[in-house]
This record gives sequence, structure tokens and C-alpha cells, in this order.
Amino acid sequence: MDAARFAQPHILNQPVYQPGKPIAQVAREFGLDPAGIDKLASNENPLGPSPKALAAAAAALRGVNLYPDGSCWDLTGKLAARLQVGCDQLVFGNGSSEVLELVAHVFLGAGTEAVMGVHGFVMYRLITLLMGAQPVEVAMPGFRHDLAAMRAAVTPRTRVMFLASPNNPTGTAHTGTELADFARSLPEDVLFVLDEAYAEYQEPAPDLRPLIAGGRPVLCTRTFSKIYGLAGLRVGYGYTRPDIAALLQRARAPFNINTVAQAAAVAALDDAEFMRRSRENNRAGLQQLAAGFRALGLEYVPSEANFILVRVPDGAKAFGFLQARGTIVRPFGNLPDHVRITVGTSGQNERCLANLRAWFASRA
Ligand SMILES: Cc1ncc(COP(=O)(O)O)c(C=O)c1O
Repeated sequence: MDAARFAQPHILNQPVYQPGKPIAQVAREFGLDPAGIDKLASNENPLGPSPKALAAAAAALRGVNLYPDGSCWDLTGKLAARLQVGCDQLVFGNGSSEVLELVAHVFLGAGTEAVMGVHGFVMYRLITLLMGAQPVEVAMPGFRHDLAAMRAAVTPRTRVMFLASPNNPTGTAHTGTELADFARSLPEDVLFVLDEAYAEYQEPAPDLRPLIAGGRPVLCTRTFSKIYGLAGLRVGYGYTRPDIAALLQRARAPFNINTVAQAAAVAALDDAEFMRRSRENNRAGLQQLAAGFRALGLEYVPSEANFILVRVPDGAKAFGFLQARGTIVRPFGNLPDHVRITVGTSGQNERCLANLRAWFASRA
């Protein structure tokens, strides 16, 4: 039986998300000691999880014979108070990726379009295609979103505008004023999705809550995977207008945030010290990597996130070389002369720079 014959036709052309390589896989493939491998490929927090979150997660394990609280009651209350939004404005996902996917389920389908930057977060394209909708990719001169060109790409078929600030993989960001003006320039029947996965690293971070309160169709997504150090537990959320949140809730699977993740996320919100240390490590690491790139004569895109896109000719080969030496970075098919490097601890950054030096020496 050929299952592909009765699959939906667009699934057969659906590209598959390529995640950063796990440490265990690289250790197996190259016969390396996992303890000596630095994963600087997926923009995770190199300091580990928040200690408070870890303690809460351990305690929550005792209750996993029961289903999770499907309403995320504690997390909703805590975040609503923190963000000063209504509980009915929040929607949670198994990572913010799931919140983005809910957007696609609700607003995209055959005959509709979603606008995004050509070097925007790859999931926007994938989820748009998954719904049988059309991704409209807009050029990004200088690796920045061209807001005027994105606005000009809107047609009567456009239902969603995806934009991350800071953006992955470029690290470029926009100011609050730029984003608010952009949101106001969009038609009322286009949902503006501002992806704030890295907003906690940006100072000051834009704040579109006044626009949402004023009735604009804006959804901001955030995640516990990055600065909070909980990527493996998968918790993300969106805040938006209550009517939009209610539509997204319809598409959500029951119990999509597990018990351990809910407890960890609540505790992480209280770990101000861990946040401070994470920001500090990132600030210092961005400087360390940038200085190392300059010393090597490499161009890089100044970043407001926890990673840097650096110009390395033959990025795929460089990736292979670095990986064999225990530094996992991220190559990109559509940016063949670049790799993206997540900010690590100072030791990880130093090893990465040493391996980059060795790569260029090997080609000299
Ligand atoms: C811009 C952006 N948005 C969303 C995500 C999804 O993160 P998660 O699903 O872990 O919340 C990522 C992850 O790399 C990202 O870079």
C-alpha cells in the first residue's frame, strides 16, 4: 500500500524542520566524549535551567500520575499579573512554536497568504505550507526586516504577518516605535504576529501591549526556552486580544503544557537572579565572540539576541569541521556563507573561536 497516494498532496512537498544536532548524536558520530561537546546551535541558555525552576520541576514530578491542569491556572495568573494583561489574553503552547502553529491553524488555509522576511524564523514558512497557504518571503537588505517592503507585500489574501524581533537567525531587532507604527499600518484583517522569543535579551524591549489594549489585531509570542533555560520542557505563550486568544484556544490540544513544565515556568518567573546572570553572561559573550570574529577578520551581524550570525565562507564545511572538534554551530542552506553561533559560557566561546581559527588555518 502506497500511503503517499492518499496523503494530502501538499504534505508530499512539505519541508521538514532541521533542528540543531543534539550532543549525544555528535558524540556517537565522531566518537567524542559528550562532556567535551559544546552545543552552540539552538540558542539555548548555556547556564542551564534556572535553579528555582529545577527545584519546582523535581517537586512536580511526584504528581505526574494525574493529568496536567489544562487551564495552566497558576502560570496564567502569574503571567497575567506580571504582564498586566487579562487571563483571557493568554494562550500557552508546547513551546512558542505551538502557539505559532495555532495561528496557522486558525488563520491560514488554501487561498490565503502569510508574509515573512526571507531570513525570518524558518517555522513561519513551514507552518504556512503545512496549512496549504502561500508564504510570501520579503527580501531583508542588510539582514534586517524591510518593514516598508513587508507592508507593500500585503494583499487581500494576506491573513498573517510574521516578524521576530530580535530575529533568528540574524539577531537584528526593531525599536518599539518602529514596530508600533508598522502594526498600525497593517489592515485590520491581518494578524500581526510579533515573535518575542529573544525579547528578554533586548534592552529596552518593545512593548505592543498598548496597541493590543487599543484593539489592534496583534499577537506577541514569548518562550521559556531561551533566557529561562527551559527549552527541554517546552513552554511558550502568546498575549493578544481576548477574542483572538479565544480562537487560538479552540485549536489547542487539551493538556498541551505538562505538569512539570507548568511548575518550572511559574518558578522561573520568580528567579530574577538567574535572569540577571543570564543577561550578563550574554552581554559579555556577545562582546567576546564579536572581538574574536574581528581578530579573524570575519564580518558578523551585530546582534541583540543570544547568538550571532557570522560570515564564514563554505558554512556547511565549516560546520562539519567545528562539529568534529566538539563545537556544534548552525549552518543554513539559504545562507551558505554564514553560520549562526549561540553565545555560550566564556569557556565555550573561547573553544569555539579556537576551533574557528583552526578551520581558517586548515584552509590557508
Ligand atoms: C524566533 C523564534 N521563535 C520561536 C522559536 C521557538 O521556540 P520554542 O518553541 O522553543 O518556544 C524559536 C526557537 O529557536 C525562535 O528562534
